[in-house]
Amino acid sequence: MKIMLPANSKMHSTAFTFGVATASFQIEGAVAARLPCIWDTFCATKGKIRDNSNGEQACEHVKLWREDIDLIESLGVDAYRLSISWPRVMHQDGSLNPQGVQFYTDLLDELIRRGIKPFVTLYHWDLPQHIEDNGGWLNRQTAYQFADYADKITQEFGDRVYSYATFNEPFCSSYLGYEIGVHAPGLAKKAYGRQSAHHLLLAHGLAMKVLQKNSPNSQNGIVLNFTPCYSATDSVADVQAADKADQYFNQWYIKPLFDRCYPDIINDFAAEDVPIIEDGDFDIIAQPIDFLGINFYTRAVYKADTENGFSQIDMAGKPKTDMGWEIYPQAFTDLLTSLHALYPLPPIYITENGAAMDDKLLDGKVDDVDRVKYYAAHLNAVNDAIEQGVNVVGYFAWSLMDNFEWAEGYLKRFGIVYVDYANQQRTLKTSAHAYRDFIRARK
Ligand code: FCB
Repeated sequence: MKIMLPANSKMHSTAFTFGVATASFQIEGAVAARLPCIWDTFCATKGKIRDNSNGEQACEHVKLWREDIDLIESLGVDAYRLSISWPRVMHQDGSLNPQGVQFYTDLLDELIRRGIKPFVTLYHWDLPQHIEDNGGWLNRQTAYQFADYADKITQEFGDRVYSYATFNEPFCSSYLGYEIGVHAPGLAKKAYGRQSAHHLLLAHGLAMKVLQKNSPNSQNGIVLNFTPCYSATDSVADVQAADKADQYFNQWYIKPLFDRCYPDIINDFAAEDVPIIEDGDFDIIAQPIDFLGINFYTRAVYKADTENGFSQIDMAGKPKTDMGWEIYPQAFTDLLTSLHALYPLPPIYITENGAAMDDKLLDGKVDDVDRVKYYAAHLNAVNDAIEQGVNVVGYFAWSLMDNFEWAEGYLKRFGIVYVDYANQQRTLKTSAHAYRDFIRARK
């Protein structure tokens, strides 16, 4: 089973970066060595995580990181995208935790020694709990605390890090975490969703200034996720519904970066749901970025709904992953070309793309042909966008290995490497072999 792209694809060039991605809370374990974070608290709250699990062990990456780097190297990738755990590197008083810093220093040094470029995300959802206790992302002060953390940590690591992203998917932090409450911290109010989104974007802008000052030679930017919105029918009402959903879920996070305002849908909000925005905030948010990270998994289809304006319909009978997410690679091409048409984009990295599948370890093998097909189709979708003029310069598979999949716990497997949590054994799946062979064929 092979991943194939057209022979003339720009993605065959070694100038194109291929990598694998992970995030701190999802793999690290070693919770006693850091401050508690909002995901520890959320996991400890009954009914929040489907298998009642938590991040205490995860992939025990803090213990096994050297072997995990061997694994990454064995895949032949150019880059590794990881996130730094804010609660691991900072004490509650705002000073650096030398033990936590040392962990990442060793990791970064080892990656560099092996010629693997480190792509570091500063915030992949693990907010220190003491900051949440003070209002979390509903408190404007948190944006300034984030900039301070970014300042201290980038002074330590500087341009040993090839690329810094301020945030991973502010949509998930704000909408899932503060608006509908299915992610930590589990609050559920529309006004909270909108206000936390604004503070996350403000924090991004404040931190961008810091990154450009402390590490001007790194590629600095942000990672956004997109679920392109399609209309159920061609009716005017459904087309408008899909457009509103797109403004709300997707454009909300990218438009302020380039256009210094939120999408028009803000004018439909009840007064109490409009976020507090201070003078000058959009100028801070719209700092120039060196790259845009895009995460893509699936699309969503909407129909008009008189109560909420739009409602998502289930695509019954369509191919889906183990998450129940529709497999629709054309949406990836459509997304990239439409963003390219709407905004003056910097170079784009696909910072996440992948699929959860119902993997089975049989005789020491995981033959995840379905996942290989997903990757092949989605890499081709990216290639189509490149052919249409979109400047995509890299692609990261989500994920290096199976890990803690948030509210789904350990029930969903996104890795190209299988993790047996009982003994922490890692096994390359068929998809890992296919990805490795595909990357190797370039060189
Ligand atoms: C993204 C997250 C990542 C992972 C994938 C499946 O939203 O950034 O941590 O959970 O989804």
